[in-house]
Amino acid sequence: MLSRQVAEKLTKLETPFYLYDVALLRQTLESAMSMASKYGYKVHYAIKANYDPRLLQIIREYGLGIDCASGNEVRCAIEAGFDPKSIVYAGVGKRDKEIRYAIEQNIYAINCESIEELHLVDELAREAGRVVDVALRVNPDIDPKTNHCIDTGQADSKFGISYEEILSSVEDIKSLRNIEVVGMHIHIGSQIRELHVFENMCNKANVIVENLTKLGFELEFVDVGGGLGINYDMPENEPIPNFASVFAITKQHLKVGEREVHFEFGRSLVGQCGELITRVLFNKTTATGRRLAIVDASMTELIRPALYGSYHNIENITSEESQRLKYTIVGTACESTDVFDENVSLPITKRGDLLTIKSAGAYGMSMASRYNQHDLPGAVYSDEL
Ligand SMILES: Cc1ncc(COP(=O)(O)O)c(C=O)c1O
Repeated sequence: MLSRQVAEKLTKLETPFYLYDVALLRQTLESAMSMASKYGYKVHYAIKANYDPRLLQIIREYGLGIDCASGNEVRCAIEAGFDPKSIVYAGVGKRDKEIRYAIEQNIYAINCESIEELHLVDELAREAGRVVDVALRVNPDIDPKTNHCIDTGQADSKFGISYEEILSSVEDIKSLRNIEVVGMHIHIGSQIRELHVFENMCNKANVIVENLTKLGFELEFVDVGGGLGINYDMPENEPIPNFASVFAITKQHLKVGEREVHFEFGRSLVGQCGELITRVLFNKTTATGRRLAIVDASMTELIRPALYGSYHNIENITSEESQRLKYTIVGTACESTDVFDENVSLPITKRGDLLTIKSAGAYGMSMASRYNQHDLPGAVYSDEL
């Protein structure tokens, strides 16, 4: 873990901040891309996971495309130098101006999530005098066996179009002259650690692609989304996620002929390279006997524990005490749910000690807010220390 190795240098910096291990990011990208190329798979980075410009610059060097969830994400990707033709844009509620912008920028595909959206894209493409490539984001009805807050492909989810609705709208979709359906997209959820779920996903995708083809859609690509999970419990044991297995499972089970296969990884690419470094402000004990360590970060820097009950491993990187105690780590925000974790075993922790909240590279900074007028956290990169 990087923070422990450079703890001395970190003590001099203003906290809280994200610390990025650039070498680990490079190794992770190298691993994902070399294995993807073995099978001819294309990899997009789900930019929502982290917009940090330095990370984007490195990600671009490795030849990834970008998966976006808003017009501003498309803009961010283009401003970071990504080729619009490597950008896909999904999102259940795209505004007219966002769709207009995506059309104007001539991105690779707009992944549509309702029949009404297909109509709107068609109308706005006609206005622009264009025929626009789109993918159908289909809801495959799969349980991804993850935290229910981050599953996206079950039948009742807001994401994607149900196969039944596509079936009943085939002629309607085909009548739209200013869109061309060139892809099928599914994304079933995030932080998937049970890899057999990807096998189920491939089997479902095969059926959907076969049926859409029979219905007369000429699909050029199949985008199977992201979702590969990372080891939050013991990040040191698995700094680089198991891309090899996901690709091998896909190769074995996804039967979509010559069509291009795309992935959209977020968390698995950047999650382990980021740590949130925070300083202990105060200690106190509640009337019920709970020992609190109050740190200078909060849910405004990392909302995942408060939002989803997500676990992040926390360590004290500066204490030299040998005795360990159990702490509840709470933040500065004026919210009772602003708790990073409970019953954390730490060496005796004092005001001024630095803690690392690990595996915070994905959905950390990108979800940061200015609630309580907090400043946004800074970023420190391993190669600039
Ligand atoms: C459509 C889509 N693709 C890809 C991703 C990235 O998922 P992950 O970070 O789990 O790889 C998400 C995440 O929410 C998503 O909604």
